[in-house]
Amino acid sequence: MSNDAFDERYELRTIAPALDEQGAPTAETTAWMRAVNLGFHETDATPEHAARAVGEFAADDQTWLGAYVRHPLPGSVDETWPAGTFAWFRKALSWGDGSSIDTQAISAVTVRPTERRRGILRAMMTRALEQGVAEGYAMASLTASEGTIYRRFGFGSAIRERAVRVRRARALPLLAPTSGMVTVVTPEWLEAGPAREVFARFDACTPGSMVRNTGTWPVALGLRGYDGEPAKDVRAAVHRPSGVDEVDGYVTWRVKEGHGRDDDTVLEIVDLVYATDDAYLSLWEFLLSIDLNDVVRYSRSRLDDPIVAALGDNRAYDVEHEEDHVWLRVLDVARVLESRPYAVDGSLTLAVSDAMGFAAGTYRLDVVDGRGSVTRIAHTPDGDADGAADVRLDVADLGAVLIGSVSPTTLAAAGLIQADDPTAVTRLRAMLLPERTPHGITYF
Ligand SMILES: CC(C)(COP(=O)(O)OP(=O)(O)OC[C@H]1O[C@@H](n2cnc3c(N)ncnc32)[C@H](O)[C@@H]1OP(=O)(O)O)[C@@H](O)C(=O)NCCC(=O)NCCS
Repeated sequence: MSNDAFDERYELRTIAPALDEQGAPTAETTAWMRAVNLGFHETDATPEHAARAVGEFAADDQTWLGAYVRHPLPGSVDETWPAGTFAWFRKALSWGDGSSIDTQAISAVTVRPTERRRGILRAMMTRALEQGVAEGYAMASLTASEGTIYRRFGFGSAIRERAVRVRRARALPLLAPTSGMVTVVTPEWLEAGPAREVFARFDACTPGSMVRNTGTWPVALGLRGYDGEPAKDVRAAVHRPSGVDEVDGYVTWRVKEGHGRDDDTVLEIVDLVYATDDAYLSLWEFLLSIDLNDVVRYSRSRLDDPIVAALGDNRAYDVEHEEDHVWLRVLDVARVLESRPYAVDGSLTLAVSDAMGFAAGTYRLDVVDGRGSVTRIAHTPDGDADGAADVRLDVADLGAVLIGSVSPTTLAAAGLIQADDPTAVTRLRAMLLPERTPHGITYF
């Protein structure tokens, strides 16, 4: 569809989620939310839950974008609902050394089935990223419902996640002793007490962690379900180091009973947040020691999870599923590379291609004492006056390697990163190596 034809058919408009004077979502807000629910096959919320959700979206300072059909057919929802929805808000991404970078976190991307493949997503993404740059963002982020949508817009899959099952019968004892104390608490106590403090400590020391949405907390802590109704089946426990009052980890979980001989009873981890490795292992050990279930299931396991090495029998651990989690999109190469820490010093010239133009260029990265400084040599990827750059890559692959979870050598082997001298790729890998294993436990 040409730009003119697109503009003739649709109007792109930003709105802010809002409540009216009676505390109910405005008609425009309700219409936008119902369009999102249609796109994601979700049920519409009750007026009470919708009002609370709008309060949470407003607390996160979300900007909503809608693609509205200019000439709707009579009776169709197009008269009031947007045919395309898109949201963004500020979300910090941790580098794991106590520093972070704000990202333009993108969410609620849907296009009505009757209007798909007419360029609505492309138009919304272009508008949003342009506005994001104007708002000062150096990077955008998202989590995707499908793996094939976002690379074309410069996003690279930077962190993966695993759904895993650990069979209790063979798991304990752990190979190394844990320490400290685990005690059972109520989700209400967790919410009033240490949950956010533990998360803040986890976030500060974990590369790839992202600040959570306001509305995530009650669900993570087991106070309510995604449908807004009270969750009555979630339990909670905390870990403290020996002789210390301060909590350094917590877990929430529910048990789903199996029926019949071949149907496992499964303890499902709802949220597991740890400020120390010992808290992580101790809470796993505790979960694996709970009777009357067969399997502990965790859908947010990181790659290279230390629990595999810690288990009495590593074969108790099974990977059910693995997929992309957080995708990153660099908008300003210099600011992003200057914001993160580096494991080793060195210099590299990077030629970055970007079909959308934001990040295209040739950049010199000089790292001294673990901090980088970046000079943009040219505004095109082939602008290095001295000849070929050390490393040539698309902006999506720059986003993929940024956290240090995806290795540049892997992407070179996949044909996505080019270098005349392969040691340039290993140098980049060494520079980007994070101090701790990246782990993302935030969804948006
Ligand atoms: C995915 C979705 C948003 C795409 O919207 P759309 O308006 O049809 O997309 P566009 O017409 O703007 O297409 C943009 C580009 O993406 C491609 N594309 C769109 N959807 C795709 C998909 N599901 N898989 C692979 N490519 C896709 C198009 O081919 C097009 O490519 P091009 O610009 O390089 O030619 C829409 O199909 C949808 O709402 N799906 C259900 C909800 C969903 O999955 N949302 C994503 C949440 S993360």
